[in-house]
Amino acid sequence: MNKMAALDFSSSTGAVQAHPQSLLDLPHGEARQSLLTVHSILEARLPKAPLAIYEAGGGSTSFLPLSVLGRAHVTVVDIDEDQIRNNTYAQQTILGDIQTHRFPPDSFDLVICYNVIEHVPDVDAALRGFCQSIKRGGLILIGAPNPRSLSGVVTKYSPHWFHVWFYRHVRGDKKAGLPGQAPFPTHFHPLVTLANLEAFAKLNGLQVIYKKEYESPRYPEMRKRMPMLARLIDVGAKILNALLPGKRDVRHGDYHVILRKL
Ligand SMILES: C[S@@+](CC[C@H](N)C(=O)[O-])C[C@H]1O[C@@H](n2cnc3c(N)ncnc32)[C@H](O)[C@@H]1O
Repeated sequence: MNKMAALDFSSSTGAVQAHPQSLLDLPHGEARQSLLTVHSILEARLPKAPLAIYEAGGGSTSFLPLSVLGRAHVTVVDIDEDQIRNNTYAQQTILGDIQTHRFPPDSFDLVICYNVIEHVPDVDAALRGFCQSIKRGGLILIGAPNPRSLSGVVTKYSPHWFHVWFYRHVRGDKKAGLPGQAPFPTHFHPLVTLANLEAFAKLNGLQVIYKKEYESPRYPEMRKRMPMLARLIDVGAKILNALLPGKRDVRHGDYHVILRKL
């Protein structure tokens, strides 16, 4: 399906927006900070010319900077019909599976796969498709949950109905679980782990140019909406941090990684 670009860079007040709504919707904290860093890297590293972008599992929300989206031809591949229907920013939408859908080699300057690989049973197949479709020097941006974090472990080992309950009652998202709405079922293939993703990159001619594990935005969200529950979880996280070997923070529930094709 081909669509005309429907990018609206203005806010409800009519002022020109500097950032996409997805970034503005993030609470102030590490997640927003890392996304701003990602934006500055994309702005610096991508060619200044018109861009070809592949959003794998793009759904209906883009996390890309407006300066990049504004000069790009965006192709979204998503397996969910409702997500495809709700997409307003892509020039081309394809109802398909990122594990099997293939583009000709050297098709894209940037592949973005944001909040998607945790939902995919065969991440290896999806990543191979990204590597094949990207130009030399092109970038792959992945945003995903950290399976070794507190939220990652809970998400991985809890049933889907619990994720829907959490979105509805803790996050306050009344539409959660309805067709085309998050949360989507998770698989947590071993390649979702940042260390395994880095090993894949090394073996497949990709250079890691940025990686950052950061506190999941669910924490600041919860601190605002449910301060008592948030305090309890913060205390639990601090105890786990003290007990677990190494200097890790179990609240680092998400990560960004940018890979460059050599
Ligand atoms: C959590 S949403 C993220 C959407 C968007 N990237 C965002 O961050 O808002 C996950 C998306 O991945 C899509 N998805 C899951 N498995 C997929 C697959 N195998 N192929 C294509 N899309 C897939 C879902 O339909 C959904 O739109």
